[in-house]
Amino acid sequence: IERITLFEQMGGTPALHNLVELFYQHVLADPILKSLFPPDIKPVMIKQEQFLTQFFGGPPLYTNEYGHPRMRARHLSFPITRERADAWLACMHKALQETIQDVSLREEILERLSITAYFFVNKEE
Ligand code: HEM
Repeated sequence: IERITLFEQMGGTPALHNLVELFYQHVLADPILKSLFPPDIKPVMIKQEQFLTQFFGGPPLYTNEYGHPRMRARHLSFPITRERADAWLACMHKALQETIQDVSLREEILERLSITAYFFVNKEE
């Protein structure tokens, strides 16, 4: 059976692009997240859009360019506490509210991202 991907349900590339744009505005305004990110956030935004596209079932844009994501490993050089995972998800929650109307779709997306975010926790508070 062909299933409609989350990527499609969200509205595809334009929607992902908006989401990522708004998400990093919130991240850069967050006192416990902003210090982790480089002053030039643009490259991170591009990679995140590529990664989330494939994460939600769209074309494998990130893997095509960078190979296997190994995303937890890529985050090991940053101190990710539970508090920071909460903050990351709060930024994403806001960006989702600003871009996606369908509440149950938003919840499904946030649930999938929550599992991933807490899996990236690599440091005690
Ligand atoms: C990169 C923080 C969760 C996807 C990064 C970077 C930081 C960071 C500091 C590196 C920025 C740089 O290039 O210097 C965090 C924190 C998280 C979190 C604090 C809280 C749990 C996630 C989640 C995802 C994600 C849940 C995806 C579902 C990415 C991607 C990159 C990235 C795709 C770019 C990787 C690359 O350089 O190729 N993150 N992240 N992150 N993060 Fe996260």
